[in-house]
Amino acid sequence: MDDENYNNLKRDSSYQTEFKNFKVSAKFNDIYRIDNTLAKSELIKILARIDSEIEQRGGIEVYQSASTQGQAGKRGGDSSKKLVEWLQDEKYKSRFQNVTALEIGCLSPYNAISTCGLFTSVCKIDLNSQDTAIIQQDFMQRPLPTNESEKFNLISCSLVINFVPSHNERGDMLKRITKFLKSPKNGSLSSLFLVLPLPCVTNSRYFDNDRLLQIMSSLGFIQTFFYEAKKVAYWLFDWNGRVGKALTFPKKELHSGSQRNNFCITL
Ligand SMILES: C[S@@+](CC[C@H](N)C(=O)[O-])C[C@H]1O[C@@H](n2cnc3c(N)ncnc32)[C@H](O)[C@@H]1O
Repeated sequence: MDDENYNNLKRDSSYQTEFKNFKVSAKFNDIYRIDNTLAKSELIKILARIDSEIEQRGGIEVYQSASTQGQAGKRGGDSSKKLVEWLQDEKYKSRFQNVTALEIGCLSPYNAISTCGLFTSVCKIDLNSQDTAIIQQDFMQRPLPTNESEKFNLISCSLVINFVPSHNERGDMLKRITKFLKSPKNGSLSSLFLVLPLPCVTNSRYFDNDRLLQIMSSLGFIQTFFYEAKKVAYWLFDWNGRVGKALTFPKKELHSGSQRNNFCITL
């Protein structure tokens, strides 16, 4: 009976919706008090919530990997060092004139992207700003640019997509990013720096690097750099300005195996 209750709570879509509304702040604000005064039914409820969130974020492996990276960020690890290294390449060097960047999911205003001096400005946003230099904002709610000057030459989206709770919302985020990128015409820089926990592309039942590249290509992104570190994968994409309309990428099993996580991005 308890098992059934737990499974129902986890599966129940209204519960998931309620859960979704606080999911973004859960990492920072929600604390579950578990002690011996707690009724068994409450304990089951909390357990179902935690497990549901872990599942939505791609499973325990992805979740733990992401947490590690988040903590590494606070300790001084900075994924944008890889971005800056790539931007020093001949391919990009000549394209740095008056270029702007948007960092989605910014933990520190002192990241290499902000301090490298390559960008005339870096707009930093996060759902939970931890610094006055970081605007507290949900990228999905950020007003769409009304003209080219409100767009950016580069968008950094490092370890953020895996925090978005559902596969379709992850696809929506990638699609929305294209609306914030400057037009690549006349050779001006129009690029996306993407970082994901490695298990998202190496150990998911529903996703892998090929699938990611197919989705990115349908949105007009061409990979220029890729690096696979121990726990995370980094990509740099150039945008060609053409978002395909007809292509869809539904959730389907690509790899079987009980040890795999459920991470997925759909369009
Ligand atoms: C694991 S941290 C990664 C931080 C940093 N970019 C890094 O690479 O270490 C993920 C961050 O993304 C932020 N985030 C998730 N969804 C977001 C959204 N829709 N808009 C803005 N920030 C978001 C979270 O608040 C969190 O601070």
